[in-house]
Amino acid sequence: MSNWKMPKVLPSEITPREVYQRRREFMRIAASAALAAAMPGGLFAGERLPNLVKSAYELPDKLTPVGDVTRYNNFYEFGTDKESPAQNAGSLKTRPWTVAVEGEVRNPKVWDIDSLMKLVPLEERVYRLRCVEAWSMVIPWVGFPLAELIKRAEPNGNAKFVEFVTLNDPGQMPGVKSSALDWPYREGLRMDEAMHPLALLTFGLYGEVLPNQNGAPVRIVLPWKYGYKSAKSIVGIRFVEQMPLTSWVKAGPGEYGFYANVNPAVDHPRWSQAKERRIGDFFKRQTLPFNGYAEQVAQLYTGMDLQKFF
Ligand code: MTE
Repeated sequence: MSNWKMPKVLPSEITPREVYQRRREFMRIAASAALAAAMPGGLFAGERLPNLVKSAYELPDKLTPVGDVTRYNNFYEFGTDKESPAQNAGSLKTRPWTVAVEGEVRNPKVWDIDSLMKLVPLEERVYRLRCVEAWSMVIPWVGFPLAELIKRAEPNGNAKFVEFVTLNDPGQMPGVKSSALDWPYREGLRMDEAMHPLALLTFGLYGEVLPNQNGAPVRIVLPWKYGYKSAKSIVGIRFVEQMPLTSWVKAGPGEYGFYANVNPAVDHPRWSQAKERRIGDFFKRQTLPFNGYAEQVAQLYTGMDLQKFF
């Protein structure tokens, strides 16, 4: 072996200045990205939601496997087949994202999604979801009561209804180029329904951030109503005086109602609503009035003809 020593060469002497400066800049960005990922906020699909409050909302029903919850979806902005949302919703950009709370309120506000998620502690609730197409699932959702947000907005005396407006971006949503529905997808509730403690502003499922195909970054879940009321990927919550014209009512007023309370006694004009197939089950089961939540919500509709106001 010779006693030749390796000369001490600084990287700056062998690497052109712009290259090592770019490398340093890259490392700085990578370090801050790692820090941001470690901090709460800016959470993306599949990440675990921190500090979940254990919920009183349990059900004896068997949970629907997460693979069915995330691969059998209705989200027409990503196509009309049940498999299309899981295949196409990867193009949805969920940050930055804002939700405008506006209309007949004293405190209108444009919420950044990461602040909205921290408004009150998130809790897990197992709810049945009954689709108007006569299938159902049992899903552990994560969110907080919509009433918490409504209270802070302070609706005024003219606020009789709430309208949910969802994202309508042809660049991210291939389905909105079709005329399957009138876009943006719109839904709505009467004020007392929106204030009901079961109405859940939802950010996750199975303890994790909502997958895009399930309505990331924020959707509503209304377990006593047919699934189409549970609007996904919400960008606006508007307080209005008149009953909003919702997308499905506009598409087929004889087939889809504004109230859409699950009701085995009122058939869809083209099929029965008496029974449903729980995803994963072979046999059908009886559909329950208000999807099994009658004890909690039936009083909202006292005196109403539910055949007429379907
Ligand atoms: N929200 C938007 N923006 N677009 C839709 O097509 N479909 C609705 C509802 N929310 C829909 C939507 C229907 S018909 C159902 S049954 C539920 O989402 C399905 O929710 P899931 O796929 O998470 O089970």
